[in-house]
Amino acid sequence: MTVTVTGAGGQIGYAALFRIASGAVFGPDQPVALRLLEIPQGVKAAEGAALELTDCAFPLLASVDIATTPEVGFDGANVALLVGSRPRTAGMERGDLLAANGAIFGPQGRAINDHAADDVRVLVVGNPANTNAFIAQQHAPDVPAERFTALTRLDHNRAVGLLAERAGAAVADIDGITIWGNHSATQYPDLSHATIAGRPALDVVGEEWGRGAYIDRVAKRGAEIIEVRGGSSVASAANAAIDHVRDWFAGTAAARTSVALPSTGAYGIPEGLIASVPVRAASGAWQVVEGLEIDAFSREKIDASVRELESEREQVTALGLVPAG
Ligand code: NAD
Ligand code: LMR
Repeated sequence: MTVTVTGAGGQIGYAALFRIASGAVFGPDQPVALRLLEIPQGVKAAEGAALELTDCAFPLLASVDIATTPEVGFDGANVALLVGSRPRTAGMERGDLLAANGAIFGPQGRAINDHAADDVRVLVVGNPANTNAFIAQQHAPDVPAERFTALTRLDHNRAVGLLAERAGAAVADIDGITIWGNHSATQYPDLSHATIAGRPALDVVGEEWGRGAYIDRVAKRGAEIIEVRGGSSVASAANAAIDHVRDWFAGTAAARTSVALPSTGAYGIPEGLIASVPVRAASGAWQVVEGLEIDAFSREKIDASVRELESEREQVTALGLVPAG
């Protein structure tokens, strides 16, 4: 299994590499070849991480290579974790990074198209993740669109963790939460179908909180971390990326989670937008959980986040970051 991690010399890269090499993503029997893709300024940090990976003597780590061009970095990649990009700082929204980061993802999408393995699966972490994933996907016409995903598992895990904390419940007793839309402040953490030990979550925590302060807290958790920590989330982001890829390969059994993937039109989300929806995974593919009842409150929230994704798509089109047509 060849795994390419972009921005491997950065913070999230550093938090993710050791867990990937230890078997946390593909299990105890799958050797992994790591490819670290960096820009020249990040190469020293990536080299340092590579030295430390050697020093861990991970039995599953077959090789570590550093690349500075996407063509070499993605050559033969089965999994591509697109992390490399600038994080926001206090006072910014993730969408403010579009102009700075968007240009990274076209060439990477093209290189994935031309050089990655036929079964490549792509997870975009770099912000604004949904629209960066859209840019990459648009440059990879030969790769099935559903192989391009963006990370909303961090939002999902936050939604589970904060609900468990409020209810005094075990994380393992919570199911059925959905993160809808964009990995941004407009995202909609939806408890309508969530349960806590089989009981409707909104009955346990009350609608006022579950459809009020809770939504805001989850949606703005990234900014809360930046304010309290002084920098954007790192370990929880790497952990979520690992959860995402592990579930994509191993499946989710009965449990549901959330992934941003190209819309097929389900739930009225315009086709092709990379929006977060409820999913399960089986046989190496995400399956959208269809048929959930969407009430007027949820409809409005989902539509607002989808409108933001449409506006980001318009911006990157105007910036010339996606191929015409
Ligand atoms: P960081 O600044 O510590 O690391 C970024 C790394 O990317 C640097 O080493 C840099 O050299 C490298 N890089 C920049 N351009 C590159 C390119 N074209 N190719 C390869 N590497 C490149 O940042 P970080 O804390 O690791 O965060 C990375 C990104 O992840 C940010 O955009 C951040 O906002 C985002 N993020 C997303 C989520 C999410 O849930 N989707 C969560 C946390 C952070
Ligand atoms: C997060 O949600 O923690 C990341 O997207 C980083 C950020 O900018 O909030």
